[in-house]
Amino acid sequence: MKEKHSKILLEAKDLHKTFYHPNPITILQGINLEVSAGESVAIVGRSGEGKSTLLQILGTLESPCSGELRISDQHVNGLNRASIRNQSIGFVFQSFHLLEDYTALENVLMPARIARKSIKKGSEAEQRGLYLLEKVGLADRANFHTKLLSGGEKQRVALARAMCNDPALIFADEPSGNLDRQTAAIIHNILLSFVEDHRKGLIVVTHDKELAGLCAKQYELASGKLIDTGFRV
Ligand SMILES: Nc1ncnc2c1ncn2[C@@H]1O[C@H](COP(=O)(O)OP(=O)(O)OP(=O)(O)O)[C@@H](O)[C@H]1O
Ligand SMILES: [Mg+2]
Repeated sequence: MKEKHSKILLEAKDLHKTFYHPNPITILQGINLEVSAGESVAIVGRSGEGKSTLLQILGTLESPCSGELRISDQHVNGLNRASIRNQSIGFVFQSFHLLEDYTALENVLMPARIARKSIKKGSEAEQRGLYLLEKVGLADRANFHTKLLSGGEKQRVALARAMCNDPALIFADEPSGNLDRQTAAIIHNILLSFVEDHRKGLIVVTHDKELAGLCAKQYELASGKLIDTGFRV
């Protein structure tokens, strides 16, 4: 159950986003969202409504045109964006974004490498990487180049990578889009237990009703706004 005064991990206020390519298209029109420690948030919505764009903005990968974003008590700006991302955020992208010529383990350890941790054989980071690969059921694929892996296996490597630096927040864009039901259920379980057991925050974009139903809060993104569609009881 949610504690009364959970720490707020993410706070978005009145975010707007318009793309100019070459004609303006306004995607987000006043997004407000709060995510507390231990809380999972599902965002659903039709294709092209701007779910991935919203996730990229909340995850500091893209800038809003206006509005305010606070992550782990820091106002996100051009100067601290990269360090907040490295310290506090794990991302599972809709199209994986794995380095195909690197092994599964090397991909999982990439956030540790960026944070300048030792990833040598036997290092703490390497041990964690191997543990995470085992968790997603890929212990025997640790040394495979990711270009040799199936779509669902790549997705699971991406999930393990998102958890590598033990981030406060995980953003996941269709994390089970390429998986069969049984593997999807395993992935959902890993994501949700990471959040609930370790007091993390999760924002997940999904078309999967089962995953949305497991999240504490559910929103639909439509016409640039988030509409509350329910809370888990
Ligand atoms: N960099 C960009 N420049 C111009 N238009 C963009 C850019 N990125 C996204 N868009 C447009 O913004 C809209 C929203 O895209 P987005 O990828 O956020 O949708 P989505 O809700 O994630 O869709 P899907 O469910 O298909 O993944 C789309 O119409 C897309 O073409
Ligand atoms: Mg998308």
